[in-house]
Amino acid sequence: MSLFRREFLRFLAGSPLLLWENEEHLIASPAEALSVLEFELVAKKLLPPAHYGYLASGVDDDLTLRANREAFTKIQIRPRRLVDVSKVDLSIDLFGTRWETPIVLAPVGSQMAFHPDGEVAAARAAKAKGHLQILSTMTTASVEEVTAARGAPIWYQLYPTAKWAVTEALVRRAEAAGCPVLVLTVDLPVISHRETASELARLDERDCAACHEQGASTYFRVGRKPMFDGLDTSGLRDLDAPALTWDFISRLRSVTRMKILLKGIVTREDAKLAVERGADGIIVSNHGGRAEESARGTIESLPEVVEAASGRVPVLIDSGFRRGTDIFKALALGAGAVAIGRPYLWGLAAFGQSGVEAVLDILRRELALAMRLAGVTSIGGITRDYVV
Ligand code: FNR
Repeated sequence: MSLFRREFLRFLAGSPLLLWENEEHLIASPAEALSVLEFELVAKKLLPPAHYGYLASGVDDDLTLRANREAFTKIQIRPRRLVDVSKVDLSIDLFGTRWETPIVLAPVGSQMAFHPDGEVAAARAAKAKGHLQILSTMTTASVEEVTAARGAPIWYQLYPTAKWAVTEALVRRAEAAGCPVLVLTVDLPVISHRETASELARLDERDCAACHEQGASTYFRVGRKPMFDGLDTSGLRDLDAPALTWDFISRLRSVTRMKILLKGIVTREDAKLAVERGADGIIVSNHGGRAEESARGTIESLPEVVEAASGRVPVLIDSGFRRGTDIFKALALGAGAVAIGRPYLWGLAAFGQSGVEAVLDILRRELALAMRLAGVTSIGGITRDYVV
């Protein structure tokens, strides 16, 4: 073996990159984590392949999933100097409620697939750290249980089923549980093609039928979800609603006083229509790269949506946010708040409630640091001038 080669191997053996690949060096407690990404490695190790596949999957070739991350590298921060940054204020206002940070827990279904305490653990973490939580229609704990665990109102995400009686019952139940805001997800008129999830499911040797209702589709199992208890879901195999159009907003309005947000808007045309049709807000989202394979990151869609909304309704965003600087960039481009999905699920899968708390802490710390290093002390102060 040449000297160079031997030296190179010795260098590799001492490299932190090699430790990173080494399973023995996975973080053993939430406190050890340097970034939210470290929770993913633990989640991957602990979760059965099918459940990890459900969490990780994008669609088709995962182009959109990757685009959500890569798009951040095309936006640069323009920091200002010699600003007194000894105090920073991360708080925001949404529909008259003050939140300590702009970081929101996105709606994610079936959280008991990641940890036995599921959505309730996420709610306890959101309570401990003062975050807004949005609960999925496909939750594995009821809206009443999660609201009680959060100790304050949560927002409810609605999948418009193809059966109005079911949809209406879900809406009325969420409102009765005290949810002030309904988040209507509009990016899955039909079920998307989650190829990575299917691939990893093949590796799973457990008997899926032991937990999952047989005959239901891979992603939208209705029968075992508590929000559907007591409802006649016959004929409703999945939650897709291919016939849905803009008229649905007024239909929802006729049965609820909750604010209505549309989640999944990515174009100026739809942002304009959303405002015209009376939506109270917009969440720019591509479902974390799990809906259409557009190959476009949501941060790239944000400016046109913000422009079309022109301050008339708040614009939130999600998909691919992993760093405080990612959040900073979205706020600079006009987002009112930023939701995260997978990062808190990694924390949940790895360590339960304390993992979710640590993820929220890290992102908040990173955002505060990004603000200080950019010379800005309030969320409102992060204007368009801070990015190029
Ligand atoms: C989701 N998402 C989602 N959205 C929704 O409106 N209702 C839902 O039930 C779910 N379920 C769900 C499950 C899993 C496993 C994931 C990863 C995502 C989408 C979610 O709300 C959000 O848009 C993305 O997760 C944001 O992207 P990141 O942060 O995961 O990259």
